[in-house]
Amino acid sequence: MKKMLSLTLALALVVAMLCGCGSTEKGLTVKDGVLTMATNAYFPPYEYYEGSEIVGIDAEIAGAIATKLGLKLEIQDMEFDSIITSVQTGKADMGLAGMTVTDERLQMINFSNTYATGVQVVIVPEDSDIASIDDLAGKKIGVQLATTGDIYACDDFGAENVEEYNKGNDAVLALTQGKIDAVIIDNEPAKNYVAANEGLKILETEYVTEDYAACINKSNTELLDQINKALEELKADGTIDAILEKYISAE
Ligand code: ARG
Repeated sequence: MKKMLSLTLALALVVAMLCGCGSTEKGLTVKDGVLTMATNAYFPPYEYYEGSEIVGIDAEIAGAIATKLGLKLEIQDMEFDSIITSVQTGKADMGLAGMTVTDERLQMINFSNTYATGVQVVIVPEDSDIASIDDLAGKKIGVQLATTGDIYACDDFGAENVEEYNKGNDAVLALTQGKIDAVIIDNEPAKNYVAANEGLKILETEYVTEDYAACINKSNTELLDQINKALEELKADGTIDAILEKYISAE
């Protein structure tokens, strides 16, 4: 009989552990049913303002993830440079910002499964003598601070030739004003900027291809698992594709 009792107790313990009793809703370490997303909302079509609302691919994907997890999404706009820190310090639960998976970033945070691909491209004035990546040598290159474009440009062409701006728009503005010779930035935002400004074009040659993913605090592996599960479901049922198609016109 005694044996029976301890066996039942042991079983109850296992069941309790399995359902994660005692931790927050669904075992997630998010606060008050709100999933906070850190982003830099000057990166169309991934995130940008429509009036006072932040919309775009990342906003919609994050919204779909939040719905799956039974949470309310709250988006925090900040400098791109601050997103990883805010996830590391727990100010935000995750970062979605057309953010590229890199080994350096993986030292600081975890990445979810990837949900999109990006390509670093070069924007130049229509009459520019820059026709290839190699022609960038010795030219003034504009980038968004702390992005992969910034890192690659500094590595390949020297930090002294790279001008860092807080927003992609600011780099493009400087290009239209002739203050710099080229801008290295992700392809979809590049298309948006070129469409919005006269006299610019994108070089045919692609610079670097990358994967985009959500970043999550290294200690919150439960949230990482839940986000990955949600992402896989959203890929399987066509939601991710539909969101990408809505914002990216097929060529
Ligand atoms: N893909 C690049 C990177 O991860 C640029 C991302 C910029 N994103 C933004 N929301 N401003 O470094």
